[in-house]
Amino acid sequence: MKTQVAIIGAGPSGLLLGQLLHKAGIDNVILERQSGEYVLGRIRAGILEQVTVDLLREAGVGAGVDGHGTVHHSIELVFGGARHPIDVHGLTGGKVVTAYGQTEVTHDLMEARKAAGLVTIYQAANVQPLDFDGSKPRVSYEKDGQSHVLECDFIAGCDGFHGVSRASVKDKVTEYEKVYPFGWLGVLADVPPVSPHAIVYGNSERGFSLCSMRSLTRSRYYVQCPLDDKVEDWSDQRFWDELRSRLDPELAGRIVTGPSIEKSIAPLRSFVAEPMRFGRLFLAGDAAHIVPPTGAKGLNLAASDVKYLSRAFIEHFKDKSPAGIDSYSQVCLKRVWKAERFSWWLTSLMHRFPDTGGFDQKVQEAELDYLVHSRAASTALAENYVGLPL
Ligand code: FAD
Ligand code: DHB
Repeated sequence: MKTQVAIIGAGPSGLLLGQLLHKAGIDNVILERQSGEYVLGRIRAGILEQVTVDLLREAGVGAGVDGHGTVHHSIELVFGGARHPIDVHGLTGGKVVTAYGQTEVTHDLMEARKAAGLVTIYQAANVQPLDFDGSKPRVSYEKDGQSHVLECDFIAGCDGFHGVSRASVKDKVTEYEKVYPFGWLGVLADVPPVSPHAIVYGNSERGFSLCSMRSLTRSRYYVQCPLDDKVEDWSDQRFWDELRSRLDPELAGRIVTGPSIEKSIAPLRSFVAEPMRFGRLFLAGDAAHIVPPTGAKGLNLAASDVKYLSRAFIEHFKDKSPAGIDSYSQVCLKRVWKAERFSWWLTSLMHRFPDTGGFDQKVQEAELDYLVHSRAASTALAENYVGLPL
């Protein structure tokens, strides 16, 4: 089989790239290790920046987010037993974020890909990018026990943090990493969100908490937990009790509880691999970088990488210009590091670290107080939260 761009991974990066390239008349094939159902079953991000929503529209899949997304004009910080609204919309000259789940984004992209008759090979085993240093790259894989080779002009490594793309250039990559001493326990439940107008980020003596939503009838909540906790340690009742104990009394009293439909623990990590291009192999999304989820940047960064990468391929195939390809890594990394900084900062501000002494605790409290009382500091939070311009 032959194509112009071989895409490894059918997560949001791979699917969005495929759709943008298809719109520009560039042929592509996606190779995905898992089944489509498995990919859709992973409950992850939920908050989209304006840039990401615009990109979904550009890819022809904006109907879902436009019809079912919930626009948020503000966020709330809860600490010291009180709520502090941050008017993100007002502080950024009218920008907003939209609650629309990664599962839904992925679903919309999969449907569009199916409708366009584009090839996605699910349950492709032993996928291996090859010969990307030369002019004729290939990707080998196995399907139903048979070996295959996909010939292509370029390979897009959209295969996440544990994928084969970055692993195949291990000796050429510089890695920057920070691992945090806690995880997030997330629960999805079909109950109305406690705060349908704002995402709530809490810092209490018992640790971080987050109240988010997928729709007016489906909520997503998180609490900071020790890294060695297991999902089995957390009954639904224990989760709801813990969440309530970390919020202010009014909000806690309004939480509607119900059976969880998904419960998982994710470790928190900051990670960047440099560069993001190796000859004709390009890394995008989680394959190249990870942020701790506190700033809701992971999926949005994946989308901006894909925007730059699709533009680079379009310039190559349509305008015969290497400019976008040559600058891809540098342009992406500039934005990536700003999101890394913001995600690290918000994580440091909103969590309780196991070994924090009295001094660091007092400094955290002072920073929170400064943040909600200084327009300049609130503005810096707001403009990063809605997403920096491309
Ligand atoms: P992925 O979504 O990881 O997709 C990569 C795809 O490649 C997968 O489908 C995988 O099966 C496939 N693949 C892997 N290896 C191979 C291979 N060898 N061959 C073929 N295919 C392969 N972000 C937020 O903003 N907010 C959150 O709350 C949040 N929660 C998260 C929770 C978890 C547990 C994780 C892991 C991430 C979370 N993120 C969150 C981050 C966000 O979900 C990611 O940034 C986003 O999924 C990145 O998309 P991607 O397509 O680059 O990678
Ligand atoms: C969600 C996840 C986040 O990391 C975040 O900062 C806000 C919301 C969510 O899953 O809805």
